[in-house]
Amino acid sequence: MKRLAERMSRLGTETAFDVLVKAKALESKMEVVHLEIGEPDFDTPKHICEAAKQAIDQGWTHYGPSAGLPELRSAIAEYAGNLRGVKFNPDQVTVTPGGKPIMAFAIMALVEKGDEVIYPNPGFPIYESMIAFMGGKPVPIRLREEKEFRLDTEELASLVNKRTKLIIVNSPQNPTGGVLTKEDLRLIAGAALKHDAWVLADEIYSETLYEGKFESISQFPEIHPNLVILDGFTKTYAMTGWRVGYGIMPPRMAKLLAQIQTNVNSCTATFTQRACLDALSGPRDETNHMVAEFKRRRDIIVDGLNSIPGFRCKKPAGAFYVFPNIEETGIDCEVLADRLLEQGGVACLSGTCFGEFGKGFIRFSYANSVENIKKALEKIEKVLA
Ligand SMILES: Cc1ncc(COP(=O)(O)O)c(C=O)c1O
Repeated sequence: MKRLAERMSRLGTETAFDVLVKAKALESKMEVVHLEIGEPDFDTPKHICEAAKQAIDQGWTHYGPSAGLPELRSAIAEYAGNLRGVKFNPDQVTVTPGGKPIMAFAIMALVEKGDEVIYPNPGFPIYESMIAFMGGKPVPIRLREEKEFRLDTEELASLVNKRTKLIIVNSPQNPTGGVLTKEDLRLIAGAALKHDAWVLADEIYSETLYEGKFESISQFPEIHPNLVILDGFTKTYAMTGWRVGYGIMPPRMAKLLAQIQTNVNSCTATFTQRACLDALSGPRDETNHMVAEFKRRRDIIVDGLNSIPGFRCKKPAGAFYVFPNIEETGIDCEVLADRLLEQGGVACLSGTCFGEFGKGFIRFSYANSVENIKKALEKIEKVLA
């Protein structure tokens, strides 16, 4: 049999999906609380579902333009621009099945052999996977607990050089919930421009924020020619399974990403795009309720974890994850994550699922009910007792 392409050995994965399968399999033997997967436990707001049903009935079941439906690109440009206090044009928008393809497509479009890409570590595992897959050199920047998991801008400046093609930033961040300040973003933009590097700003949690106002690197106009923003509908509207996301970038880049999409998956489903128009223009009460509820759960899980001996947990300002330091338990984080699942029935992820600098930490998603979070806290305490 002929060998697989060499690049396949460099492809990583997102362990959350593997743990989900393992945890589901355990359910026949024991009760399992799912704190592993990053997905709101709320249903998609009714008016969005109704809009999708209506779109199917109206015949929105055919191929659409690769860049996305023009009316949705316009609505996104306006909505995303208002959220960030910036003016975007529809020709800057490419709509994709979820936000994830923007990550892959931007890296495909920019990174070639030998290019360095700086990415947050601990961070979303797909960054490192796609950088390496495309032949680039992943250059991790460590996010430190003592800095509330914001990247150190001085360290960033020391890592950027003429080989740096791309800098990936993610705020609010997965897995730490860390949020970058306006000043951090200004310095990051400056560091990138010094060496003409691109920035991929993963802003998928732009509306899952509990403190202050959302700050985007796009508020610095000088970075616009080198900027790709990633955002989408999955987290804000509890639409993980619908698969609609988008990128906002210079028009030439938006066109290239749409061309990659033509090659890979033609377009994003058209009836889901029609429903997203309603997501943007419809009532906000359900999304507001979701964020208020996440905040309540965050406080419960942070207080609960901090009362468990060996756990030390920061209170994150955004996203729906906590990333406690568990070094003082004396147990390796991978061993502890397995033990919490297999002995306690609490599905969670070892910090190392998010890179080498996640060692000593565990990630819990608190996109689950207060009842289940309390149950999980009791189970964790029992396993450690
Ligand atoms: C940081 C980050 N970026 C992007 C994504 C991908 O989102 P989507 O489901 O819209 O593809 C996720 C999903 O968990 C995420 O945590």
